[in-house]
Amino acid sequence: MNRSIPIIDLRAQYRAMKNQMDESVLRVLASGQYILGPEVAAFEKELAFYLKSPQVVGVNSGTDALYLAMRTLGIGSGDEVITTPATFIATSQTILALGARPVFVDVNEGDSNINADLIEAKITAKTRMILPVHLFGFSCDMGKIMEIARERKLLVLEDCAQSVGAYWNSVRTGTFGDAGAFSFYPTKNLGAYGDGGAVAIRDAKAGDHIRALRTHGSLFRGYYDELGINSRLDEIQATILRVKLLYVDRWNTLRRKLASNYSELLADILPDIQCLRPADHSTPVYSLFCILVPNRDSVQETLAKKGIDTMVHYPQPLHLVNALKHLGYREGDFPIAERISQSILAIPIYPELTFQDQEQIVEEIKNAINTL
Ligand SMILES: Cc1ncc(COP(=O)(O)O)c(C=O)c1O
Repeated sequence: MNRSIPIIDLRAQYRAMKNQMDESVLRVLASGQYILGPEVAAFEKELAFYLKSPQVVGVNSGTDALYLAMRTLGIGSGDEVITTPATFIATSQTILALGARPVFVDVNEGDSNINADLIEAKITAKTRMILPVHLFGFSCDMGKIMEIARERKLLVLEDCAQSVGAYWNSVRTGTFGDAGAFSFYPTKNLGAYGDGGAVAIRDAKAGDHIRALRTHGSLFRGYYDELGINSRLDEIQATILRVKLLYVDRWNTLRRKLASNYSELLADILPDIQCLRPADHSTPVYSLFCILVPNRDSVQETLAKKGIDTMVHYPQPLHLVNALKHLGYREGDFPIAERISQSILAIPIYPELTFQDQEQIVEEIKNAINTL
């Protein structure tokens, strides 16, 4: 009898480390200190060590991490930030929140990441930053992006919300540019049990500035040189993240193994479908495993009837979403991002997924495609 397979199974992950997790959370509950305390400080140090980043500042979400990193790097009114339309809304939303403008570049067919070869053509006198997103855990072409940034004197902020532990050429994402923004939303490959985020940032002064901005602009309680926001990371999330950070490389290795299983199991229906895959020099973490399928919506519906949960990341590239209409982009501007958005489907991937689960998922995908 086939069983239902969720897109992610966070309960299975919790069960596997229940004792360690419970002990850590109970220790925080008993400590009486719940926000920006020793657990946050320890997590910041441990993540910085893991990434080989000079420093990390914990904040309340990936969205705040993007916002605060850009703000401290001086992005503001009138600036242009070159980025991808194939991402979560937060990437562009935070650029706009600072009064700057997202300038989109189309993506690669293979990995749906920003096409680094198209960036230079979009640089103007107003361009201040390149903001690549390591989508689905695939690192962007950081060699080319850093080369352009150095030559054209542009800042680089990496959106690493989906790429904790991913490498480009043996260097972790989030450490190439001026800063990296991380999300610990529960479904991420390093996920908290609530909201959380962090900025990995090169410059020590900029790190201190974010520490002030995350507490309303105050480094010393009660004294404000400027206004910040409330973006504090709490102790319970930090202790959860400290436990999970011990496992994330093991999980990332399992995710790569699961991805390779999928590629083998799906091999006989290529090219009817396509698997997104990492570009050269990229060691991915497969925060999602995405395929491109014809008649995506009906395949998704058929799989749902068979108990297989899937998701669409993302149904619209950002240049076509209603909320960003004022940017003036039109259908056809980024044909590859548009084509991918029409056929993309994320299928279950998480470290506890079994090979039998994968066989069942692939069999149902084949059935769904054959009945189209
Ligand atoms: C690519 C990307 N950027 C930014 C974010 C925002 O992170 P958060 O949900 O923690 O604010 C996400 C999370 O969904 C994301 O996937």
